[in-house]
Amino acid sequence: MYTRRLSAFAFWLLVSTRLVSLPSFLQKTPRTGRGEMDYVYGPGKNHLFVPGPVNIPDPVIRAMTRNNEDYRSPAIPAMTKILLEDVKKIFKTTSGTPFLIPTTGTGAWESALTNTLSPGDRTVSFLIGQFSLLWIDQQQRLGFNVDVVESEWGQGANLDILASKLAADTAHTIKAVCIVHNETATGVTNNLAKVRKILDNYGHPALFLVDGVSSICALDFRMDEWGVDVALTGSQKALSLPTGMGIVCASPKAIEASKTAKSYRVFFDWKDYIKFYNLGTFWPYTPSIQLLYGLRAALDLLFEEGLDNVIERHTRLGKATRLAVEAWGLKNCTQKEEWFSDTVTAVVVPPYIDSSEIVRRAWKRYNLSLGLGLNKVAGKVFRIGHLGNLNELQLLGCLAGVEMVLKDVGYPVKLGSGVAAASAFLQNNTPMIPSRI
Ligand SMILES: Cc1ncc(COP(=O)(O)O)c(C=O)c1O
Repeated sequence: MYTRRLSAFAFWLLVSTRLVSLPSFLQKTPRTGRGEMDYVYGPGKNHLFVPGPVNIPDPVIRAMTRNNEDYRSPAIPAMTKILLEDVKKIFKTTSGTPFLIPTTGTGAWESALTNTLSPGDRTVSFLIGQFSLLWIDQQQRLGFNVDVVESEWGQGANLDILASKLAADTAHTIKAVCIVHNETATGVTNNLAKVRKILDNYGHPALFLVDGVSSICALDFRMDEWGVDVALTGSQKALSLPTGMGIVCASPKAIEASKTAKSYRVFFDWKDYIKFYNLGTFWPYTPSIQLLYGLRAALDLLFEEGLDNVIERHTRLGKATRLAVEAWGLKNCTQKEEWFSDTVTAVVVPPYIDSSEIVRRAWKRYNLSLGLGLNKVAGKVFRIGHLGNLNELQLLGCLAGVEMVLKDVGYPVKLGSGVAAASAFLQNNTPMIPSRI
């Protein structure tokens, strides 16, 4: 017994001092080479091209490197007041009420739903990919009666079915139409103006709830003009902040609905936020001071570039990515041009290639992070995220990396073909940097 213990101790000592290594199946993969630190070093910058979380620009990182502060001092309420006004600009609303919630996109969904609906309420929701699927699951688990309108993954929301449902619903039993503006799993952008038009055509009073998690601050989004009742996003997407803030904006109609909606809510209850807005102290609980300063810096950068220019930049990067995919002879998961997303491209690989292997190799060999295919399209697509604080040359670096990985996994790509197509387009279409003219 004693000898067994002694030899176990000796083995542990040898392993922990790295004099012998553990069998490979017991090793942490990959080895960090940095003692107990839990990240994995790679030289140079990681090329972060997942469709969120995205790159955080240096001025934002610097703005967040600060101590905690007393949020009850006059400084934080004063800052919050301006942030709430400024954040309305990213939704293109003047009449909306924004909420900055310590949560993620998933919590922002819950805030939108529980504040406006009651258990048993009927919603229409479109299933077109993993994120719309998860939102529908949340709606069902919250006790709503969901009419699921399903399309093939790679297609947009079926708005003809929406029209027929609204036409048949003369008693106005449908309380909300819920739609993911940009389905991040498949790179599909839905046409929100069309949804509003259909609601108006039938004079239907249903609330219009929009997930703008991978669209707001990157794609054209007009809350007031499109009559969106609740719009929401997450800080780690096009705002280019760390994860941890859900930003929800409610129209006057949604605020009215929240006064009678019976879904249970505590942490997400808009009533508490509004109470503290009216008191001028703004926070029903302790806010993340660092994220508030980060949001200030992120908005400043967006406004300095100009929101319209930011959107044009995304249009440009989206188009350049699609040109590269075409040059590689690969297919976009998105089936029609009208749904092409300018924030994420899901690339379909040939059946003899596992797209997860592309993602794995890109990270292991080239320090390039690509998005995995999710759920139904797992193994079949990999995703290039092109949203947030990102420029043309960064994208070209990513495209060059993708070409090398494609070759690694046996796809007969001509190295440079995608980069050439994308750079020819970008060279013709990239304007001067607005702040440097
Ligand atoms: C469109 C969309 N909605 C919702 C979510 C969920 O957001 P989170 O992971 O921040 O909870 C995501 C996450 O990627 C998303 O892409």
